[in-house]
Amino acid sequence: MSLRFLTAGESHGERLTVILDGIPAGLTLREEDLVVDLRRRQGGHGRGGRMALEQDGAHIVAGVRGGLTLGSPITLEIVNRDWENWRQVMAVDAAEVKRKPITRVRPGHADLAGMLKYGADDARDVLERASARETAARVAAGGVAKLLLKEFGIQVRSYTRSIGAIACEAGASIDWDAVESSAVRCPDAQAGAAMVAAIDAARERGDTLGGVFTVVADGVLPGLGSYRQWDTRLDGLLAQAIVSIPACKAVSLGDGMEAARRPGSEVHDSPTYDGGGLHHETNRAGGVTGGISNGEPVVVHGFMKPISTLLKPLKTVDLKSREPARAHYERSDICVVPAAGVVGEAMVALVLAGAVLEKFGGDSIPELRRNVEGYLAKVRG
Ligand SMILES: Cc1cc2nc3c(=O)[nH]c(=O)nc-3n(C[C@H](O)[C@H](O)[C@H](O)COP(=O)(O)O)c2cc1C
Repeated sequence: MSLRFLTAGESHGERLTVILDGIPAGLTLREEDLVVDLRRRQGGHGRGGRMALEQDGAHIVAGVRGGLTLGSPITLEIVNRDWENWRQVMAVDAAEVKRKPITRVRPGHADLAGMLKYGADDARDVLERASARETAARVAAGGVAKLLLKEFGIQVRSYTRSIGAIACEAGASIDWDAVESSAVRCPDAQAGAAMVAAIDAARERGDTLGGVFTVVADGVLPGLGSYRQWDTRLDGLLAQAIVSIPACKAVSLGDGMEAARRPGSEVHDSPTYDGGGLHHETNRAGGVTGGISNGEPVVVHGFMKPISTLLKPLKTVDLKSREPARAHYERSDICVVPAAGVVGEAMVALVLAGAVLEKFGGDSIPELRRNVEGYLAKVRG
């Protein structure tokens, strides 16, 4: 694998850490480049109180000198400001830790499965890592991947396609300024207002909502990924990356699930040739055919289930007493589709950056650029 990353850290622990290995030398990387996406992940109407506490930023600890990557592993750290309030609950030292076991497991969360798996008698030991706080570390790593992609004219963005039953009518051309100024990252102002109202109504009812986000990568070079093996296909890699986002339960590319309902004559994208080169008349495939990027924008949709911590808790069992109970509640989000879109961008960027490095190699940015340019001259010629 040309690009790898590992994250560590508990939701209310001292900090999150990510090690990103495989970024070539010579990429300009500053902490301020990573803040924007970290803050975008924290936003969106429907987030809980936690996000107001955290003001995420990534501290570069290793892999960069004088503003340029060294080709060595990059280590980033994100401090959890809330940790101050959790020092005792999350203490590393056995003499200091304060335990108040959570045993009323939340339906739909990792609590029960995690407790069975790890032999835990306190869901705190499970939920601290299962929590999507971990996705902040992915967004930091994704920020580096985005900078690499930018060197080659590839831009990865996302918008909210639906929340609950409210869907937006986004055409092929998205108003990205409207997305960034929308409280729910929706390009359609009317649908966005209805989404905000739906989230408020769910909050009133003590309920939560899911929805669909869409990630669009423009400027993707043709030829990334391969049909060579199951685990080299770009569509497969994208699908795994997106479904790995907590609460994301399905993924589709391009017209995806719709394509399964239509005849072939209404699904496939015909290639055309104009002065500017080879294109497709449509992009129903979402930019990937045969497990290979085909030069069109890569379009991936992530389907989020509703958040499983409800203000009006669901029925469960208390694992200690084995009696019926109402699930544990702690400060929680109502709807995270807009934030999940930002995490989706990071995951898509990491997959695409990995595929670029896999195909073109190179230990430095100039070497990678020479390789890309040589290939593009051949493809475009
Ligand atoms: C950005 C983001 C924020 C989330 N915030 C919460 C939350 O506040 N409360 C909650 O119960 N689940 C939240 N989730 C979802 C849980 O992390 C997820 O449902 C849980 O880990 C179980 O995994 P699964 O739903 O993939 O099975 C969030 C997910 C994302 C992507």
